[in-house]
Amino acid sequence: MSIPAKIRRLGEPGLDLNTLVSLSKRRGFVFQSSEIYGGLASCWDYGPLGAAMKMNVKRAWWNAMTRRSDIVGLDAAILMHPQVWKASGHIDGFSDPLVDCKDCKTRFRSDNTESYLKNKKCPHCGSQNLSEPRNFNLMFKTHMGPVEDSGSVIYLRPETAQGHFVNFINCQQSSRNKIPFGIAAIGKSFRNEITPGNFIFRTREFEQMEMQYFVEPGTDEKFYHQWKETRWDFYLKYGLNPENLRFADHPPDKLAHYAKAATDVEYKFPMGFSELEGVHNRSDFDLTQHMKFSGKSLEYFDEPQKKKYIPFVIETAVGCDRLFLAFMCDAYREEVTSDDKGEDVRIVMGLHPELAPYKVCVLPLSKKEELSGPANKLRDQLAEEFDVTYDEAQSIGKRYRRQDEIGTPFCVTVDFETLNDQAVTVRHRDKMTQERIGMTELNDYIRKSLKNF
Ligand code: GAP
Repeated sequence: MSIPAKIRRLGEPGLDLNTLVSLSKRRGFVFQSSEIYGGLASCWDYGPLGAAMKMNVKRAWWNAMTRRSDIVGLDAAILMHPQVWKASGHIDGFSDPLVDCKDCKTRFRSDNTESYLKNKKCPHCGSQNLSEPRNFNLMFKTHMGPVEDSGSVIYLRPETAQGHFVNFINCQQSSRNKIPFGIAAIGKSFRNEITPGNFIFRTREFEQMEMQYFVEPGTDEKFYHQWKETRWDFYLKYGLNPENLRFADHPPDKLAHYAKAATDVEYKFPMGFSELEGVHNRSDFDLTQHMKFSGKSLEYFDEPQKKKYIPFVIETAVGCDRLFLAFMCDAYREEVTSDDKGEDVRIVMGLHPELAPYKVCVLPLSKKEELSGPANKLRDQLAEEFDVTYDEAQSIGKRYRRQDEIGTPFCVTVDFETLNDQAVTVRHRDKMTQERIGMTELNDYIRKSLKNF
């Protein structure tokens, strides 16, 4: 095992979000949407590796939630009754203050643009010829059915959470769960953000992973703190460096209208610490609002205590794309070794094995049928259980490097010796150690090694 002299990470000089954007395109994680038409601003497509990894991110979150006995899953429609957004406050209040520069026509948010807050200047051209801030609703509007009039207006949901609230009774009664219990969902949300950007950090179409935990009023503070801890542990389990994580509690005067307490889990992205997830104590605001607007009771009858109440809600809400980005940023490293021939840089995506797009790559030492035959058979044997890829182009060294760069935990080389001893060489992504393993034991070996990676 060679020990690198130096490890470089994103955020260090010369390594920023663009490093990841170009690796993502080159290796098939993320592409600009509609690229052949010049792209569509702030929209991104997940390529072969990105789609696989995003599925793994979702599976990790989904399992962490729904394998608990007290949480059930939900997959609600993106389109909801327009009254939902009236009740939730989104029609009247889900807006950002927008300013137009009359000279260069740039539009920007006045509440978080430094040059505007400091001296009322356009962040693009510096002009002070600006419009007054006006509220711009972030919901995408469309029409349902063939007639495009005001009666057919419908919205693309700006959060998945309202699906949980309007299905609270459906989920509770059908699953017969008792309070405290939660509803978890993963799905697309849409916000017509004024200033999207930073790759997949802020986009107009994104996926959310939200969980609403319904509790008895009075127990909400206890569960709020529990959920903060649970979500922190999730990030550590999947390998995020704790030095890149922190909580940012919202001060009482900055709380959203529905919140009793709130915190952001922030991650240190290359552009600085920014929100990754929100954990909120939403009180009984949402259920009360939906009771008012729908006229239906959303109260819960607590059998042992023989009393009715409107539950309080603790919410955990994380963007899947943003979490994908955090995992990529955290995993990226360049191992630099130097000798008299010069500098050698090994790029490694040190992803947690559950998140890596492939768990194993099979590499025949040569393209000859003699080896590609058994190598393909081995590929099929592994594919029964693992996400596996196959690579026979160029030298073994180059192929190892290609797999390191996309985070594949194990490479399996089939060589001429394999034909005699029915064994292969397994190479570990991080330690770069190699072991000879019999092909019949390979699935067992990989399964166990992935657990103890
Ligand atoms: N139901 C509560 C809610 O939606 P939020 O803080 O607005 O809360 C939750 O959103 C999470 O969704 C954020 O922490 C972020 O990870 C993700 N998110 C929000 N807007 C996003 C956007 N425009 N692009 C990507 N992710 C976004």
